[in-house]
Amino acid sequence: VSATGRGDADVLIDGERIVAVLAPGSELLGTDVAASVDTVIDATGKYVIPGGIDAHTHMELPFGGTSASDTFETGTRAAAWGGTTSIIDFAVQRYGERVQDGLAAWHEKARGNCAIDYGFHQIVGGVDDDSLAAMRGLLDEGISSFKLFMAYPGVFYSDDAQVLKAMQVSAETGLLTMMHAENGPAIDVLAAQLAEAGKKAPYYHGIARAWQMEEEATHRAIMLANLTGAPLYTVHVSAKQAVDQIAWARDQGWNVFGETCPQYLYLSLEEQLGGFSEEWGQFEGAKWVCSTPLRSSKDGHQHHMWQALRTNDIQMVSTDHCPFCMKGQKDLGLDDFRAIPNGIGSVEHRMDLMYQGVVTGKITLERWVELTSTTPARMFGLYGRKGVIQPGADGDVVVYDPHGHTSISAATHHMNMDHSAWEGYEIDGHVDTVISRGKVVVDGGKYLGSKGDGHYLKRGLSQYLI
Ligand code: URP
Ligand code: ZN
Ligand code: ZN
Repeated sequence: VSATGRGDADVLIDGERIVAVLAPGSELLGTDVAASVDTVIDATGKYVIPGGIDAHTHMELPFGGTSASDTFETGTRAAAWGGTTSIIDFAVQRYGERVQDGLAAWHEKARGNCAIDYGFHQIVGGVDDDSLAAMRGLLDEGISSFKLFMAYPGVFYSDDAQVLKAMQVSAETGLLTMMHAENGPAIDVLAAQLAEAGKKAPYYHGIARAWQMEEEATHRAIMLANLTGAPLYTVHVSAKQAVDQIAWARDQGWNVFGETCPQYLYLSLEEQLGGFSEEWGQFEGAKWVCSTPLRSSKDGHQHHMWQALRTNDIQMVSTDHCPFCMKGQKDLGLDDFRAIPNGIGSVEHRMDLMYQGVVTGKITLERWVELTSTTPARMFGLYGRKGVIQPGADGDVVVYDPHGHTSISAATHHMNMDHSAWEGYEIDGHVDTVISRGKVVVDGGKYLGSKGDGHYLKRGLSQYLI
């Protein structure tokens, strides 16, 4: 199955590369292919797809006095288990640090530790003359996109003047501007007012981060991008009103793109409101504290988002994998939702959760491949090597069994988390075999990969730029 169609074929991999895609029973240069290869994986009755590309993960991200609980080792291994063979994580420049130093630190964390191939976007958390100059050198480092935050004042936040300046560099270089579009200063006022009124449960995280804050920031980002000529990619879109902003900009013919995540397709704010457990009481809702937040199920955001995936108003699905354990991490915010580290861990489940959208008739099989692999490759300058099964591409191939079954639970997942935001989810499909650059890393229930299998991916410019 590819982004454009499906059919019966044999995929021939030699070393790390795909060398041929053949009609079944073909002869290649006069030899019987099946008889001359050393390993045959029988995928009869199953789907053979290009390995998943998760273009938004945060292994070891420092946040709220702690760090995301998956290391590059544990997080990329979990990704492999779930049929993802490449991630693009975020190197972080924090305010007061140099971009080059942030990037070097992230290379240090990842190098030799990854189970699958990995690339980086650059978070620019302190836009100033020094970082603007450094951004001009990112493409030489294989980094063709950077992320700015209109949220999180005092942490990663950029004001409009900084956004404008960074977008001018984006327009000049072709680097894609990735935007966390939420009005951070206004959200912080609302959050403080809620806390002062004694409303400190996890649920109020979602109340403070109202959809208006996302719509407004998305619009502002779009207009600043249009003014400067910067290509814009809005990350983790959750509000239907933000989707409409992106759709409107695209209808003008502008270079505006949007990403959503499985949590915004399946989970809702009521999840947090209703969250309750013996162990955590009302604090159970902290499992679903992420930004942008989960949206109310009453307003149809989830339905609108699935529809946007179908109509291409939203172009791809990443996880924003940013795991924190309840014990010792999320519980920093036991007395005040503002101190709960933001993030949900899903890197292992994206292919399954999106396949469930095929099963339920929300997207086609081809669109599943496009949203999870082909478009991420094209968007972030990896296409040809990744995102497609064709001669010359890396041997990143997943055999997916539509007759298999997957039960999601913290008891069985491979992410380094003491809970699952997806506990109890049942998927009508199963990742059977995962091949990463020609090596079988997952074979049925066995993990055959090792840390260091994954190499750094130098990326080129987005294919979607004109
Ligand atoms: O809640 C989230 N999304 N945590 C990760 C940081 C970010 O803003 O992507
Ligand atoms: Zn973000
Ligand atoms: Zn993120």
